[in-house]
Amino acid sequence: MNVYIKTYGCQMNERDSESAAAMLAEAGHTIVHTEKAADLIILNTCSVREQAELKAIGKLGILSRLKREHPWLLFGIMGCMAQSRGEELLEKIPHLDFVIGTDNIHLLPETVAELEKGRRKMRHDLRMGADTPGIDAHRLEESEQPFSAFVSISRGCNRFCSYCIVPYVRGPERSREMDSIVEEVRMLAGQGVKEIMLLGQNVASYGFDRKPPSEMPDDVSHFAELLSRINDIDGIRRIRFTSPHPAYFNRRLIETVGALPKVCKSMHLPLQSGSDLVLKRMNRPYTAEKYLQIVNDLRALAPQMTFSTDIIVGFPGETEADFEATRQMMQAVRYDNAYIFKYSPRKGTVSAKLYPDDVPQTEKERRNQVLLAELEKINAENNNALVGQDFELLAEGPSKRNSASWMGKTDTFKQVFFKAPDGLKKGDFINVHIVRATSMSLYGDVI
Ligand code: 5AD
Ligand code: SF4
Repeated sequence: MNVYIKTYGCQMNERDSESAAAMLAEAGHTIVHTEKAADLIILNTCSVREQAELKAIGKLGILSRLKREHPWLLFGIMGCMAQSRGEELLEKIPHLDFVIGTDNIHLLPETVAELEKGRRKMRHDLRMGADTPGIDAHRLEESEQPFSAFVSISRGCNRFCSYCIVPYVRGPERSREMDSIVEEVRMLAGQGVKEIMLLGQNVASYGFDRKPPSEMPDDVSHFAELLSRINDIDGIRRIRFTSPHPAYFNRRLIETVGALPKVCKSMHLPLQSGSDLVLKRMNRPYTAEKYLQIVNDLRALAPQMTFSTDIIVGFPGETEADFEATRQMMQAVRYDNAYIFKYSPRKGTVSAKLYPDDVPQTEKERRNQVLLAELEKINAENNNALVGQDFELLAEGPSKRNSASWMGKTDTFKQVFFKAPDGLKKGDFINVHIVRATSMSLYGDVI
């Protein structure tokens, strides 16, 4: 069967789609890249904000028209909406043939086999452990960046930030066996992968679900141990991860990130808010001061470290003073990137139950714009300061906008455009001297 998978949402979903595609290809199916070429269309859905769910529902509506023209077409949903609203969707959407929850991706090949036999309206959404079959299945040969791979290290989340639906949808945190992750990375290194992105809702708490400590120790980090073991694998040159919760970023992890040469000196560290009062209502157990301490401790070990973050504006009760505290944090950390979200209440979460969504939409939008403008200013200053410096880049390939130049990334996750010398291949390392900067990008000459 020709299968098209459309992915919404986060990198976790992208990774799940890749392993789904690998398992289906292994079972003899062909993965196609357009809806038109498909006999089966699967949407891998996201639930984190209402907007994401509306987008997928809209897409299903459009697809129902396709079905009228091509009655043989089959449809499935996987991902967060399949897990949390699968039964309802199967009932309401006549042309939907199956839903596969977030822990059941390995059941996809047999579900498709059942479809071929004529069965319809199947639902698989049981909770499983983390090490399900196929969680380590990749499709590097189909990737545009076969030198780089995502690796899931855990499923679910135990944090229950008050605004977040993820723990309800993806379930409790379950860490994969460390040996199995290390084996997967070794296999990828053997196939030429040089850069690994470790994925989890909260990577820093990796392993603590097996034996939860009564209090977060300062000298134990299973995640740091995992980083050390991956750092030892020949062929792997860069290790990245997303996202660590600040409350689990203890002394051991800070020292490990600072010390290990392959662990990239760029950190995505979700702040969410710079106001201690808002953080408390968000059930994020740290203060702005504690967060800044982590940033400063990391920079003391690696001064070149860059930071990116997630921020929510317009959380219930967020005053002008609270917002100002977030703006101040942007200034203090000097982020290189920030994903800014306008608060949207999610049914079933604590904040949706306890607090009225009282910041007007226009004010959320204004706060969003203020932070974006702030970020642009900081980016220009950060980038200008890099002019004249030399960096090693991992060459990713020709630039999308201008194929005469190539794009590569520094260890600190900065994009640099440069003129590629003859014979340069995707995934090669190359040294450049930065000659020009804008708020968005850097331009370099090959050394
Ligand atoms: N409203 C707005 N943003 C949210 N996020 C999670 N839940 C919500 C919500 N209800 C944001 C957080 C998280 C990112 C993935 O999405 O910033 O880090
Ligand atoms: Fe959601 Fe918080 Fe878990 Fe992240 S750590 S997935 S924001 S509950």
